[in-house]
Amino acid sequence: MKKKILITGGAGFIGSHVVREFVTKYNNYHIINLDALTYAGNLENLSDIQDLPNYTFVKADITDAAHIAAIFKEYQPDGVIHLAAESHVDRSITDPTAFVMTNVIGTVNLLNAARESWKDNYEGKRFHHVSTDEVYGTLGETGLFTEQTAYDPHSPYSASKASSDHFVRAYHDTFALPVVITNCSNNYGPNHFPEKLIPLCIHNILTNKPLPIYGDGKYTRDWLFVKDHAKAIDLVFHKGNNGESYNVGGFNEWQNIDLVKELCRQMDDKLGRPAGSSEQLITYVKDRPGHDLRYAIDATKINQALGYKPSVTFEEGLSLTIDWFLNNQQWLDNVTSGDYKNYYAKQYQ
Ligand code: NAD
Ligand code: TYD
Repeated sequence: MKKKILITGGAGFIGSHVVREFVTKYNNYHIINLDALTYAGNLENLSDIQDLPNYTFVKADITDAAHIAAIFKEYQPDGVIHLAAESHVDRSITDPTAFVMTNVIGTVNLLNAARESWKDNYEGKRFHHVSTDEVYGTLGETGLFTEQTAYDPHSPYSASKASSDHFVRAYHDTFALPVVITNCSNNYGPNHFPEKLIPLCIHNILTNKPLPIYGDGKYTRDWLFVKDHAKAIDLVFHKGNNGESYNVGGFNEWQNIDLVKELCRQMDDKLGRPAGSSEQLITYVKDRPGHDLRYAIDATKINQALGYKPSVTFEEGLSLTIDWFLNNQQWLDNVTSGDYKNYYAKQYQ
């Protein structure tokens, strides 16, 4: 019998890469993609694999406990990989409650459903919670986040993710639920929704709009190519130890301003524009409240325990990402029409 894996948030940015990785790599698995299709969910992200026989899509909202329980009854998954979330810090500042509902209550609903469904036998079962390095708060000029770093979230987004991580651990410690957690750094790559820095700047360079840099642009993030995150999830889901968490990153820190300049350089080159022309679009704007100065992951544990290593350098990953956006401008047009325009006008007025 095929193993059944429920992946939540599979129509989103990272989830779609995880679904594709699992559906195409594991013929012996049946992948059930559960997603509410919010503004961030897009089935176009999966059009290449949607007809494969080991893939099923189910539209459901993880805040609806009864529906989630019914889905577990119907499909009886052996494993859960939980990515569904509200994921954008700026949106969490305008509407924190939506983040509590999906990220905290939604996660608890899934934990309850898994517990109920697996209660007689945890053999071969696993709940993999996909989380972020933002739960650790901010670093100063030096140091790295390890799995031992104390949680210290500052935004409503990171507070909701930290809370969900605590619930996942609590269900392990209290009910022995077989869980693993991954805390990953900032992702980038194909299908990235253009509310986030890199795809927003790609879109604005293409349309000759200002590139909004918050504050002084010295904020630092640690970037990982999304397909390398999907590979890390595959590894930890199969080989990680129950009850443990694993930091995922590529030792790849960039100050925002340097990153945007590198993006401008590559875009000018690919678009055949004079060198330096996209940089002229850089515009410093009002800072984000509670803006974390620096994130940087110590990925030693996943490297040493599971042999994990990213497959591409940042320059290569960025080049692949730009190429994807240049070849998929219809995707970009589709997601930036409609509601995105209202969001953009409000956020960057
Ligand atoms: P995303 O916003 O692109 O996608 C989220 C998906 O979840 C969408 O398909 C959306 O429709 C779905 N969803 C939202 N609310 C839902 C609900 N109530 N019920 C069911 N589905 C719902 O997010 P992403 O960037 O792909 O992030 C995926 C996960 O990875 C999140 O848990 C996020 O915290 C985590 N993460 C993201 C990053 C990053 O850089 N993007 C880094 C580390 C960890
Ligand atoms: P973002 O992509 O929103 O990811 P996160 O906040 O989860 O790290 O932002 C990455 C960095 O870029 C962060 O320091 C905020 C900054 N930023 C800008 O300077 N301008 C923007 O328009 C956006 C969206 C982000």
